[in-house]
Amino acid sequence: MLIAGNWKMYKGPAETAEFCLGLRDQELEGVDVVVCPPFVSLAVAVQLLAGTEIAVAAQNVHWEEEGAYTGEVAVGMLRELGVYGTIVGHSERRQYFGETDETVGKRVHAALEAGLFVIACIGETEEERERNETEDVLRRQLSVLEPDDNLVLAYEPVWAIGTGKTATPEMAHEAHDFIKSQLDVPVLYGGSVKPENAAELLSRSSIDGALVGGASLDLESFTAICRAAIRS
Ligand code: PGA
Repeated sequence: MLIAGNWKMYKGPAETAEFCLGLRDQELEGVDVVVCPPFVSLAVAVQLLAGTEIAVAAQNVHWEEEGAYTGEVAVGMLRELGVYGTIVGHSERRQYFGETDETVGKRVHAALEAGLFVIACIGETEEERERNETEDVLRRQLSVLEPDDNLVLAYEPVWAIGTGKTATPEMAHEAHDFIKSQLDVPVLYGGSVKPENAAELLSRSSIDGALVGGASLDLESFTAICRAAIRS
């Protein structure tokens, strides 16, 4: 079971330090825990979580080794910092920053090649679900990915992200089963996971963990979700 906290554009180095100091004192044996701070906060997170079982991952990475790509960060730069992995293809990147299946594929491929652990995000929008296109969308998003020991997927229905609307455990289970029939890797669920709904979601055999946004910003709610994973 893996619980990853996607901090999005929250927590600079000072707040990151405060969170990591609190996190490293927690008893979280029996669950794999990953935190994904913004780029500028990665170094302090790596430093403060060194020697613990908690891993630090980025929220994105570019596919080229280096070059004239203003605003991007290369795989080697993450490795140099001691970062363990990265999220790729989050729906906010797809929605607001023009990320496509093709660029997601390139980023995932480059990160895996370099030995980084990757959480690749997929999921349908509300309109796509209403039009009954969920499986077509997932199939298309998965078409650029190949199984790898260092790859996990996060199924995040776009309509459930940051909205307080969670997929029912049945809906998530159904989507996870479909995803696993296409690509045999662990699948996390993401979209309004909270301490109150974590246990029920994580009890499903097809749900291998959670990618948590909002509720990962608060130490108490994040560790409550980690504990629900330990119990499940
Ligand atoms: P949320 O975000 O938990 O705030 O819905 C999940 C995500 O975007 O990864």
